[in-house]
Amino acid sequence: MERSCPVLVAPAMDVGMFEHTATQANIKLLAERGIYFAGPEEGRMASGLVGRGRFVEASDLLGHIRLLLGKNGTLAGKKVVVSAGGTQEPIDPVRVIANRSSGRQGFALAQAAVDAGAQVMLVTGPVSLKPPVGVELRPVQTAAEMLEAVLETCAGAEALIMAAAVADFQVKKPAEEKLKKQDGIPKLQLAPTPDILQKVAGMGKKRPKVVVGFAAESQDLLENAARKLEAKKLDVIAANDISASDAGFGVETNRITLLYPDGSREALPLMGKEEAAEILISRLAALLEAA
Ligand code: C5P
Repeated sequence: MERSCPVLVAPAMDVGMFEHTATQANIKLLAERGIYFAGPEEGRMASGLVGRGRFVEASDLLGHIRLLLGKNGTLAGKKVVVSAGGTQEPIDPVRVIANRSSGRQGFALAQAAVDAGAQVMLVTGPVSLKPPVGVELRPVQTAAEMLEAVLETCAGAEALIMAAAVADFQVKKPAEEKLKKQDGIPKLQLAPTPDILQKVAGMGKKRPKVVVGFAAESQDLLENAARKLEAKKLDVIAANDISASDAGFGVETNRITLLYPDGSREALPLMGKEEAAEILISRLAALLEAA
Protein backbone atom coordinates (compact mmCIF):
# COMPACT_ATOMS: atom_id res chain seq x y z
CA MET A 1 0.00 0.00 0.00
CA GLU A 2 1.28 3.50 -0.86
CA ARG A 3 1.69 5.81 2.12
CA SER A 4 -0.48 8.95 2.14
CA CYS A 5 1.55 11.13 4.51
CA PRO A 6 4.64 13.17 3.59
CA VAL A 7 8.03 11.68 4.49
CA LEU A 8 10.91 13.84 5.70
CA VAL A 9 14.43 12.45 5.97
CA ALA A 10 17.12 14.15 8.07
CA PRO A 11 20.35 12.39 7.09
CA ALA A 12 23.40 12.39 9.39
CA MET A 13 26.67 10.69 8.53
CA ASP A 14 30.42 11.11 8.67
CA VAL A 15 32.35 13.36 6.31
CA GLY A 16 32.60 12.01 2.79
CA MET A 17 29.66 9.62 3.11
CA PHE A 18 27.04 12.19 2.19
CA GLU A 19 28.96 13.40 -0.86
CA HIS A 20 29.56 9.82 -2.03
CA THR A 21 28.14 9.14 -5.51
CA ALA A 22 26.04 6.23 -4.27
CA THR A 23 24.44 8.32 -1.47
CA GLN A 24 23.75 11.19 -3.85
CA ALA A 25 22.19 8.87 -6.43
CA ASN A 26 19.92 7.34 -3.76
CA ILE A 27 18.91 10.78 -2.46
CA LYS A 28 18.05 11.87 -6.00
CA LEU A 29 15.88 8.79 -6.48
CA LEU A 30 14.06 9.31 -3.18
CA ALA A 31 13.54 13.02 -3.97
CA GLU A 32 12.03 12.05 -7.31
CA ARG A 33 9.61 9.84 -5.38
CA GLY A 34 8.50 12.88 -3.37
CA ILE A 35 10.58 12.39 -0.21
CA TYR A 36 11.74 15.60 1.49
CA PHE A 37 15.20 16.17 2.93
CA ALA A 38 16.37 18.40 5.78
CA GLY A 39 20.12 18.80 6.04
CA PRO A 40 22.70 17.54 6.70
CA GLU A 41 24.59 20.61 7.89
CA GLU A 42 28.23 21.62 7.73
CA GLY A 43 30.22 21.32 10.93
CA ARG A 44 32.24 19.15 13.28
CA MET A 45 31.28 15.47 13.46
CA ALA A 46 31.62 13.03 16.40
CA SER A 47 34.67 11.60 14.59
CA GLY A 48 36.35 15.01 14.83
CA LEU A 49 36.19 15.52 11.08
CA VAL A 50 34.69 18.72 9.72
CA GLY A 51 32.38 18.80 6.71
CA ARG A 52 28.80 18.20 5.57
CA GLY A 53 27.05 15.48 7.52
CA ARG A 54 25.78 16.92 10.81
CA PHE A 55 22.21 16.19 11.87
CA VAL A 56 20.11 19.31 11.33
CA GLU A 57 19.46 21.39 14.52
CA ALA A 58 16.32 20.22 16.38
CA SER A 59 14.65 23.64 16.02
CA ASP A 60 15.34 23.62 12.27
CA LEU A 61 14.00 20.08 11.97
CA LEU A 62 10.80 21.27 13.61
CA GLY A 63 10.77 24.18 11.12
CA HIS A 64 11.06 21.74 8.19
CA ILE A 65 8.19 19.65 9.61
CA ARG A 66 6.02 22.77 9.96
CA LEU A 67 6.86 23.80 6.40
CA LEU A 68 5.89 20.37 5.12
CA LEU A 69 2.67 20.05 7.14
CA GLY A 70 1.57 23.55 6.07
CA LYS A 71 1.74 22.81 2.37
CA ASN A 72 -2.02 22.33 1.96
CA GLY A 73 -3.01 25.04 4.48
CA THR A 74 -5.41 27.95 4.06
CA LEU A 75 -2.71 30.13 2.43
CA ALA A 76 -1.27 27.37 0.20
CA GLY A 77 0.46 28.81 -2.83
CA LYS A 78 -0.15 32.42 -1.74
CA LYS A 79 2.71 34.90 -1.57
CA VAL A 80 2.69 36.88 1.67
CA VAL A 81 5.08 39.68 2.63
CA VAL A 82 5.72 40.24 6.35
CA SER A 83 7.79 43.12 7.71
CA ALA A 84 9.28 42.79 11.19
CA GLY A 85 11.58 44.42 13.70
CA GLY A 86 12.57 48.03 14.07
CA THR A 87 14.48 50.06 11.51
CA GLN A 88 17.71 51.87 12.38
CA GLU A 89 18.59 55.32 11.03
CA PRO A 90 22.30 56.16 11.02
CA ILE A 91 23.65 59.19 12.89
CA ASP A 92 27.26 58.42 11.97
CA PRO A 93 29.07 55.18 10.98
CA VAL A 94 28.61 53.67 14.46
CA ARG A 95 25.49 55.28 15.94
CA VAL A 96 21.85 54.86 15.01
CA ILE A 97 18.38 56.00 15.99
CA ALA A 98 16.60 52.76 16.86
CA ASN A 99 13.53 51.56 18.76
CA ARG A 100 12.62 48.77 21.17
CA SER A 101 10.99 46.41 18.67
CA SER A 102 12.29 42.84 19.14
CA GLY A 103 10.80 41.52 15.89
CA ARG A 104 9.02 38.74 17.82
CA GLN A 105 5.49 39.51 16.62
CA GLY A 106 6.58 39.83 12.98
CA PHE A 107 8.63 36.61 13.10
CA ALA A 108 5.70 34.78 14.75
CA LEU A 109 3.46 36.04 11.93
CA ALA A 110 5.94 34.81 9.33
CA GLN A 111 5.99 31.36 11.04
CA ALA A 112 2.18 31.25 11.24
CA ALA A 113 1.98 32.14 7.53
CA VAL A 114 4.44 29.31 6.72
CA ASP A 115 2.30 26.96 8.87
CA ALA A 116 -0.68 27.96 6.70
CA GLY A 117 1.24 27.11 3.52
CA ALA A 118 2.14 30.62 2.33
CA GLN A 119 5.27 31.49 0.41
CA VAL A 120 6.64 34.05 2.85
CA MET A 121 9.01 36.95 2.22
CA LEU A 122 10.25 38.34 5.53
CA VAL A 123 11.57 41.90 5.34
CA THR A 124 13.26 42.55 8.66
CA GLY A 125 15.18 45.23 10.46
CA PRO A 126 18.19 44.17 12.60
CA VAL A 127 16.94 41.62 15.17
CA SER A 128 18.51 38.73 17.08
CA LEU A 129 15.97 36.07 16.11
CA LYS A 130 16.27 32.99 13.96
CA PRO A 131 14.04 33.25 10.89
CA PRO A 132 11.43 30.50 10.38
CA VAL A 133 12.50 27.68 8.06
CA GLY A 134 11.16 28.25 4.57
CA VAL A 135 10.91 32.05 4.50
CA GLU A 136 12.79 34.18 2.03
CA LEU A 137 14.70 36.66 4.18
CA ARG A 138 15.27 40.28 3.18
CA PRO A 139 17.36 41.94 5.91
CA VAL A 140 17.33 45.76 5.85
CA GLN A 141 18.51 48.52 8.13
CA THR A 142 16.79 51.82 7.37
CA ALA A 143 13.19 52.83 6.62
CA ALA A 144 14.26 53.74 3.07
CA GLU A 145 15.74 50.26 2.57
CA MET A 146 12.60 48.68 4.03
CA LEU A 147 10.45 50.70 1.62
CA GLU A 148 12.47 49.46 -1.34
CA ALA A 149 12.35 45.82 -0.17
CA VAL A 150 8.61 45.95 0.62
CA LEU A 151 7.68 47.49 -2.74
CA GLU A 152 9.83 44.94 -4.55
CA THR A 153 8.51 41.89 -2.67
CA CYS A 154 4.89 43.14 -2.84
CA ALA A 155 4.88 42.80 -6.62
CA GLY A 156 2.76 39.71 -7.21
CA ALA A 157 2.07 39.21 -3.48
CA GLU A 158 -1.44 38.48 -2.23
CA ALA A 159 -0.97 40.05 1.18
CA LEU A 160 1.27 42.40 3.14
CA ILE A 161 1.53 42.46 6.93
CA MET A 162 3.43 45.53 8.16
CA ALA A 163 4.40 44.49 11.68
CA ALA A 164 7.69 46.42 11.56
CA ALA A 165 8.26 49.41 13.82
CA VAL A 166 9.45 51.78 11.12
CA ALA A 167 11.32 54.86 12.30
CA ASP A 168 9.35 58.05 11.73
CA PHE A 169 12.45 60.26 11.57
CA GLN A 170 15.84 59.95 9.96
CA VAL A 171 18.95 62.10 10.29
CA LYS A 172 19.02 64.46 7.33
CA LYS A 173 22.74 64.18 6.75
CA PRO A 174 24.43 61.35 8.69
CA ALA A 175 28.10 62.17 9.47
CA GLU A 176 30.59 60.31 7.31
CA GLU A 177 33.06 59.97 10.18
CA LYS A 178 32.37 59.06 13.81
CA LEU A 179 31.25 62.15 15.74
CA LYS A 180 33.79 63.09 18.44
CA LYS A 181 32.79 63.85 22.02
CA GLN A 182 35.30 66.70 22.22
CA ASP A 183 33.60 68.46 19.28
CA GLY A 184 30.55 69.09 21.50
CA ILE A 185 26.94 67.98 21.36
CA PRO A 186 25.93 67.51 17.71
CA LYS A 187 22.85 69.28 16.37
CA LEU A 188 20.97 66.53 14.60
CA GLN A 189 18.64 67.70 11.89
CA LEU A 190 15.84 65.22 11.44
CA ALA A 191 13.68 64.58 8.39
CA PRO A 192 10.61 62.36 8.00
CA THR A 193 11.06 58.83 6.67
CA PRO A 194 8.84 57.61 3.84
CA ASP A 195 5.56 56.06 5.02
CA ILE A 196 5.71 52.56 3.56
CA LEU A 197 2.01 51.78 3.91
CA GLN A 198 1.11 55.09 2.20
CA LYS A 199 3.35 54.15 -0.73
CA VAL A 200 1.79 50.66 -0.86
CA ALA A 201 -1.66 52.29 -0.90
CA GLY A 202 -0.47 54.18 -3.98
CA MET A 203 0.43 50.97 -5.85
CA GLY A 204 -3.07 50.92 -7.39
CA LYS A 205 -3.99 47.64 -9.05
CA LYS A 206 -0.61 46.13 -8.18
CA ARG A 207 -1.26 46.53 -4.45
CA PRO A 208 -1.60 43.24 -2.52
CA LYS A 209 -5.26 42.23 -2.08
CA VAL A 210 -5.08 42.39 1.71
CA VAL A 211 -2.91 44.86 3.63
CA VAL A 212 -2.56 44.57 7.40
CA GLY A 213 -1.08 47.31 9.57
CA PHE A 214 -0.13 47.61 13.20
CA ALA A 215 -0.68 50.48 15.59
CA ALA A 216 1.50 50.60 18.69
CA GLU A 217 0.13 53.38 20.85
CA SER A 218 0.68 54.53 24.39
CA GLN A 219 -2.51 56.65 24.43
CA ASP A 220 -5.93 56.80 22.72
CA LEU A 221 -5.20 53.39 21.23
CA LEU A 222 -8.42 52.62 19.38
CA GLU A 223 -9.03 56.18 18.11
CA ASN A 224 -5.50 56.39 16.70
CA ALA A 225 -5.71 52.90 15.23
CA ALA A 226 -9.05 53.69 13.52
CA ARG A 227 -7.53 56.86 12.05
CA LYS A 228 -4.52 54.91 10.68
CA LEU A 229 -6.76 52.17 9.30
CA GLU A 230 -8.46 54.79 7.14
CA ALA A 231 -5.45 57.00 6.32
CA LYS A 232 -3.30 54.03 5.24
CA LYS A 233 -6.22 52.31 3.43
CA LEU A 234 -5.79 49.08 5.38
CA ASP A 235 -8.02 46.00 5.37
CA VAL A 236 -7.35 45.40 9.04
CA ILE A 237 -5.22 47.05 11.72
CA ALA A 238 -3.90 45.32 14.84
CA ALA A 239 -3.90 47.82 17.69
CA ASN A 240 -1.68 47.08 20.65
CA ASP A 241 -1.38 49.06 23.82
CA ILE A 242 2.31 49.52 24.50
CA SER A 243 1.73 51.33 27.79
CA ALA A 244 0.92 47.98 29.48
CA SER A 245 4.02 46.15 30.77
CA ASP A 246 2.73 42.73 29.58
CA ALA A 247 2.03 43.70 25.95
CA GLY A 248 3.80 45.20 22.96
CA PHE A 249 7.50 45.96 22.59
CA GLY A 250 10.15 43.58 23.89
CA VAL A 251 7.82 41.17 25.77
CA GLU A 252 6.52 37.76 24.76
CA THR A 253 2.81 38.54 25.05
CA ASN A 254 0.45 40.90 23.28
CA ARG A 255 -3.06 42.25 23.79
CA ILE A 256 -4.42 43.11 20.39
CA THR A 257 -7.67 44.58 19.10
CA LEU A 258 -8.38 44.08 15.41
CA LEU A 259 -10.21 46.93 13.66
CA TYR A 260 -11.87 46.59 10.25
CA PRO A 261 -12.99 49.27 7.74
CA ASP A 262 -16.70 48.47 8.34
CA GLY A 263 -16.26 49.58 11.94
CA SER A 264 -16.27 46.07 13.42
CA ARG A 265 -13.75 45.24 16.13
CA GLU A 266 -12.38 42.08 17.72
CA ALA A 267 -10.66 42.44 21.08
CA LEU A 268 -8.29 39.53 21.71
CA PRO A 269 -7.26 38.77 25.30
CA LEU A 270 -3.65 38.80 26.50
CA MET A 271 -1.86 35.93 24.74
CA GLY A 272 1.51 34.79 23.44
CA LYS A 273 2.70 36.47 20.25
CA GLU A 274 2.62 33.07 18.51
CA GLU A 275 -1.04 32.57 19.36
CA ALA A 276 -1.87 36.14 18.33
CA ALA A 277 -0.07 35.50 15.04
CA GLU A 278 -2.10 32.34 14.38
CA ILE A 279 -5.36 34.23 14.91
CA LEU A 280 -4.25 37.11 12.70
CA ILE A 281 -3.21 34.71 9.92
CA SER A 282 -6.58 32.93 10.08
CA ARG A 283 -8.35 36.31 9.77
CA LEU A 284 -6.06 37.18 6.85
CA ALA A 285 -6.93 33.88 5.11
CA ALA A 286 -10.65 34.66 5.54
CA LEU A 287 -10.17 38.17 4.08
CA LEU A 288 -8.25 36.74 1.11
CA GLU A 289 -10.95 34.16 0.56
CA ALA A 290 -13.55 36.92 0.46
CA ALA A 291 -11.44 39.32 -1.68
O1 C5P B 1 1.87 55.84 11.73
P1 C5P B 1 2.38 54.70 12.54
O2 C5P B 1 3.86 54.54 12.48
O3 C5P B 1 1.90 54.62 13.94
O4 C5P B 1 1.70 53.44 11.81
C1 C5P B 1 1.99 52.14 12.14
C2 C5P B 1 1.85 51.26 10.93
O5 C5P B 1 2.42 51.91 9.79
C3 C5P B 1 2.62 49.98 11.08
O6 C5P B 1 1.96 48.94 10.37
C4 C5P B 1 3.99 50.33 10.47
O7 C5P B 1 4.65 49.17 10.01
C5 C5P B 1 3.59 51.23 9.33
N1 C5P B 1 4.57 52.29 8.98
C6 C5P B 1 5.00 52.41 7.68
N2 C5P B 1 5.93 53.37 7.34
C7 C5P B 1 6.38 54.25 8.27
C8 C5P B 1 5.91 54.16 9.59
C9 C5P B 1 5.02 53.15 9.92
O8 C5P B 1 4.57 51.63 6.83
N3 C5P B 1 7.26 55.18 7.93
